[in-house]
Amino acid sequence: MTLLYNELSGWYRMLTPVEEYAEEAEVYRGTFEAALAGSAAPRTLLELGCGAGHNAFYLKAAFRCTLTDLSPDMLALSRALNPECEHAEGDMRALRLGRTFDAVFVHDAVTYMLTEDDLRAAAATAFVHTRPGGVAIFQADVVKETFEEDTEYISGADGDRAMRCTMWSWDPDPDDTTCCTEFGFLLRENGEVRAVLDRHVEGLFPEAAWERVLAEAGFVVTPRQQPPTGGEMFVCRRPG
Ligand SMILES: C[S@@+](CC[C@H](N)C(=O)[O-])C[C@H]1O[C@@H](n2cnc3c(N)ncnc32)[C@H](O)[C@@H]1O
Repeated sequence: MTLLYNELSGWYRMLTPVEEYAEEAEVYRGTFEAALAGSAAPRTLLELGCGAGHNAFYLKAAFRCTLTDLSPDMLALSRALNPECEHAEGDMRALRLGRTFDAVFVHDAVTYMLTEDDLRAAAATAFVHTRPGGVAIFQADVVKETFEEDTEYISGADGDRAMRCTMWSWDPDPDDTTCCTEFGFLLRENGEVRAVLDRHVEGLFPEAAWERVLAEAGFVVTPRQQPPTGGEMFVCRRPG
């Protein structure tokens, strides 16, 4: 269980403000709209692992959004930002809402799928919730071929609270399907500073594994795309 999506969720928007998502959300909107061209409006979207709802904040102008996440604390942040959207708690490996959507969006939360079995389960969830002829986007941070050790430094402030955070991504075992991001936080609040370490173990799969797992779920998968806003995107159509 990561601290960032639970005990530290009150610091989440300082780490990654919603305004920083406008450009990439526009890429996903455009990709869905191009792939869904010809569909009758209104168009519905399900997000698996919506977090604080930052992409959804922009996508909801184009889609009626249903937003799901494992963490009640993150869902509370998203509900505050996106009160007009439906929210539901659920694990992307097991969620079953019993209905389908025009679009299914699986953004960086998919990074918490650590094994091919996890990824297979998430792909099955996306498939059963995509209507025939509908489209799912899987947006991974990295694939095995593009992973590089990396360090990012983020600072922020909000009233009398302030944060300094170092994010250090590395791969302890290049032979398995995981890597790590170490979050080192210094959090200042009420005149006191505390240090918190939060390790995120993340999935790391070769492109061929992504394509195989998504195809085995039943999707027709277009070749991996690298949007200008970053990451690795797999656009998947459920045959209709
Ligand atoms: C970085 S946040 C997602 C941010 C989101 N993409 C956005 O646009 O704001 C990652 C989220 O993945 C969620 N998560 C991790 N494992 C999950 C799982 N198995 N099922 C659903 N959500 C999961 C965490 O609770 C966290 O809220």
